[in-house]
Amino acid sequence: MRASFLLAVVCTAGFTTAFPGMDKTMSEIQARQGGSGPSTALLGDLVHLSDRQLTRTGREIKAILRGTGNPQDLISHASYFLGTPPLGSWLCNIDTCCVWKHIADEMAPALTGTAGRCNDLARALIRLAFHDAGTWDIHSDGTGADGSIALTDECDRTPENRGLGTACDQVRTWHAKYASHGVSMADVIQFAAQVATVVCPLGPRIRFFAGRKDVAVAGPRGLLPGPFDDADRIIDMFANKTISADGVVALLGAHSASQQHSIDVDRAGDPQDSTPGVWDTEYFSETLDDDAPARVFKFQSDLNIANDPRTHATWRSYADPSAQSSWNKAYAAEYIRVSLLGVPELNSMTECSRALPPSRGSFDAPDQSQLDRFMQGLLDTATDLLFNGDVIPADLQ
Ligand code: HEM
Repeated sequence: MRASFLLAVVCTAGFTTAFPGMDKTMSEIQARQGGSGPSTALLGDLVHLSDRQLTRTGREIKAILRGTGNPQDLISHASYFLGTPPLGSWLCNIDTCCVWKHIADEMAPALTGTAGRCNDLARALIRLAFHDAGTWDIHSDGTGADGSIALTDECDRTPENRGLGTACDQVRTWHAKYASHGVSMADVIQFAAQVATVVCPLGPRIRFFAGRKDVAVAGPRGLLPGPFDDADRIIDMFANKTISADGVVALLGAHSASQQHSIDVDRAGDPQDSTPGVWDTEYFSETLDDDAPARVFKFQSDLNIANDPRTHATWRSYADPSAQSSWNKAYAAEYIRVSLLGVPELNSMTECSRALPPSRGSFDAPDQSQLDRFMQGLLDTATDLLFNGDVIPADLQ
């Protein structure tokens, strides 16, 4: 048996389920503050299967959905410490996750720039995966995380997907390259989002489960949120996707890395906090801050959730650098839920977290003073560099 496989078993068995009590502590804090707590509803076949019928992975997914399992896996990348066997080799063929390791090795370098920040493609892939899964709710017959956003013309045709064309083309390219190794478009989309998240500095390493089936039928319209939606509409819409109000707060933190293009085209490139391409808590504090730097562009929908009495306390609880790990954990749990929306058979999925790149727990911007100037509106010429996650040269004017 290969050492990498042995280590993978140890990692998955031991560490990914460590510290379940910490999740509980955070949800207890949120509940004390009057928040809804994390989402806990079951999905897919886990709703009706008894515990005796569950596979090991089925049990792990169930625990995560219930809010008791650990949704992150911070160390299993080490399972490939001897290297990745060549694609198509017998060693690779006996490891179900080997193809995902090859895909991750191709994706990761495409998603960061020379500054170490994640780039425009990474951000768009995270949004793309949310939009593929988000067309499911408990009242619709849409099939959620099914690859349909890229398998149909949804990406190019529907207004809510404006700006996602490049990301769609990219997942089509990756899928075409690896489909003969048994990967579905739906899995490629969710995996790309999780690779994109973990390569953003400070981003969570979210456990990845493979096994989604493709459906080449466009999802129903009207199930994705809009940037001017009020809090009632957003909270109701996510509740119908089994996501609690506190879950919405954690998920919106994805805007920590983002830069808007389409809400105000005159301000294309303006980020949602002063550290674009970095997965930090600045987004939560600066959304609440009337004196945030000039180029911080706040979505009305984010402001509505930040200030709503049902979600304000949880928002505020994340608005501090010390909340990074509790927010990452909450985001990871809620994101796994998003990535499984509408997927019927969760009990037969396979965990391939070990194929994900390592997380990056600290980050010092190599160009902080230039980034500060950009954020104050004094360095428009840096917009494209920031899109690409590249260093802003010290002499750029
Ligand atoms: C109330 C819910 C939400 C609303 C109204 C919303 C709306 C938006 C809008 C309008 C943009 C800017 C798109 C552009 O101009 O290019 C955006 C960007 C983004 N959103 Fe959301 N979003 C929501 C929830 C989420 C969730 C749950 C996730 C992830 C799980 C997410 C991830 C992202 C990312 C990563 C970007 C950056 C995309 C880029 O830079 O190309 N959003 N969102």
